[in-house]
Amino acid sequence: AQPRDMEGVRLLVTAGATRESVDPVRFFTNHSSGKMGYAIAEAAAKRGAHVTLVSGATHLTPPLDVEFVPVVSANDMYEAVMARYDDVDIVVKAAAVADYRPKNVHSQKMKKQSGGLVLEFERTRDILAELGKRKSTQFLVGFAAETENVEANARGKLERKNADMIVANNVAQSGAGFGTDTNIVTIYTRNGESLELPRMSKAEVANRLLDAVLAVRGEREE
Ligand code: PMT
Repeated sequence: AQPRDMEGVRLLVTAGATRESVDPVRFFTNHSSGKMGYAIAEAAAKRGAHVTLVSGATHLTPPLDVEFVPVVSANDMYEAVMARYDDVDIVVKAAAVADYRPKNVHSQKMKKQSGGLVLEFERTRDILAELGKRKSTQFLVGFAAETENVEANARGKLERKNADMIVANNVAQSGAGFGTDTNIVTIYTRNGESLELPRMSKAEVANRLLDAVLAVRGEREE
C-alpha cells in the first residue's frame, strides 16, 4: 500500500492535449492521451494530496477524489492554471500544450477551394514559463517531450522556465511518451542531479516522480 505521505499537500496537475480550432468543425492537436497526467493525479490523491486535475479532452475517466477542471485550448489551460496557482503547493505540467494556434479562427466552416491551403499560425503563451516567472513558494515540475538531445533540452527547459524539476521522456523510444501505458523518464533537478528510470507503468512513474518531489522539497525545508 502507498503511504499517505501527501496529506495536506495541494497539487495541481495538467494532462492531455489541447485543441486549437480553425473553424467550427476542425482543430489542431497532438497525440497526448492524458494517461501520464491522470496517473499522477491518481497517485497523489491516493497518497492523501488535495489534487486539481486540469485536463484537455481525453477518453479517460477522471480519478476519484480529484477536483476536475476540463479545458479545451492552450489559452483555456493557461487561464485555469493561473487562476489556481496561488492556492497550490506543487504544479506538475504533464499536458502537451500547443505551441501554435491558427491566427484566424473562422466563424463558419471553411469551404474547399481549388489548389492547396496555407494557414498562418501564432504562438500560444507558455504556461510553464509564466508559472516560473510568478513562482513564490510553489514547487514547479515540467515535462519535456523530446526526440533528440534529451538531456541538453531538458536542462535548458529547467533553466529557461525556472522549473524545480523536469521529467524528460524520449517520445521516439518504444514504450515511452504518447499513448502508451508505460513511460521511460529521466528526472532532472536544479542541483545538477538526475535520476534515470527504466521502463515502467505510468502509475509507477507517477509514484517515483512524487517521491522525488517530496525528497527535494524536504531537503529545502531542512
Ligand atoms: O498523455 P500521454 O499519452 O500519457 O503522454 C504523456 C506525454 C508524452 C504527453 C508526457 O509525458 C509529456 O511529455 N508531456 C509534456 C509534453 C510537452 O508539451 O512537452 P514540451 O517539451 O513541448 O513542453 C515542455 C513543458 O512546457 C511541458 O511541461 C508543457 O506542459 C509546458 N508547456 C509547453 C507549451 C506551452 N504553451 N505551455 C506549457 O506549459
